[in-house]
Amino acid sequence: MAHSFVSDDRVVDALVDIDLAIGAGEFVSLVGPSGCGKTTLLNMVAGLVTPTEGQVRIGGKVVTEPSRDTAYMLARDALFPWRSALENVMLGLEVRGVPRAERRAVAQEWMQRVHLGGFERARVTELSQGMRQRVAIARTLAGSPRCILMDEPFAALDAQTRLLIQQEFLGLWARSGATVVFVTHDLQEAVALSDRVVLMGSRPGRIAKEVDIDLPRPRNMTEIQADPEWQRVYLELQDALKEETAAMRAEREEATA
Ligand SMILES: Nc1ncnc2c1ncn2[C@@H]1O[C@H](COP(=O)(O)OP(=O)(O)OP(=O)(O)O)[C@@H](O)[C@H]1O
Ligand SMILES: [Mg+2]
Repeated sequence: MAHSFVSDDRVVDALVDIDLAIGAGEFVSLVGPSGCGKTTLLNMVAGLVTPTEGQVRIGGKVVTEPSRDTAYMLARDALFPWRSALENVMLGLEVRGVPRAERRAVAQEWMQRVHLGGFERARVTELSQGMRQRVAIARTLAGSPRCILMDEPFAALDAQTRLLIQQEFLGLWARSGATVVFVTHDLQEAVALSDRVVLMGSRPGRIAKEVDIDLPRPRNMTEIQADPEWQRVYLELQDALKEETAAMRAEREEATA
């Protein structure tokens, strides 16, 4: 699979030779230097960008448009600020085609699951960043999507809150059985959360390396970095990422020289 963007008579080969199979229920992270095509790849899986070459299939079906079975969660929570927390979760259900009568009850249940019971009527602007991200998680998971796409979902959180929310998200994901494709700049996070980390390189964007993370689940986010296996994989990927970033810089300097 490949993708090129054409703008102002300029062609950007965003992705080439992408051949990636993800198993049902698998948690896969995409990491790589800025501009290597992570978001573009995610948008293709979401049905928002059509590859110029090849295709994306989910469950054997070619993706041509956004599907109800696929949920997309972004870094900034993208909630409706003037609506209540509960209404934001309900909106997610509406998009997924959940009948009106069920929406409130299901949304209320999800508010409990993300530990926001009692904040149903709070407006999003009255919530902390961490609470907003919990609402976004509830909205993402409430429609029971088969596939969850996340683009740096926890990037805006402070370190402590991030750990907590990662842990909570892992628990909810484990119960959902959904497939996750997770984009992050944070290699530590990728190794801690995933079954597999896909390292991408740039110019043009491609897959540089894939590493299976053989750490048992359930995982403890505050302790996992002490695990020798976590450290081994992290260092291996860190070296590879440094190479990709250095290669990208060198090319950029050549291009501007
Ligand atoms: N709509 C677009 N039109 C033209 N070029 C685009 C478009 N979207 C992305 N690109 C280009 O495609 C390449 C990949 O962009 P993409 O946003 O997928 O990278 P990324 O890996 O998500 O980067 P970051 O880590 O900074 O979010 C970049 O060179 C970018 O400039
Ligand atoms: Mg991106």
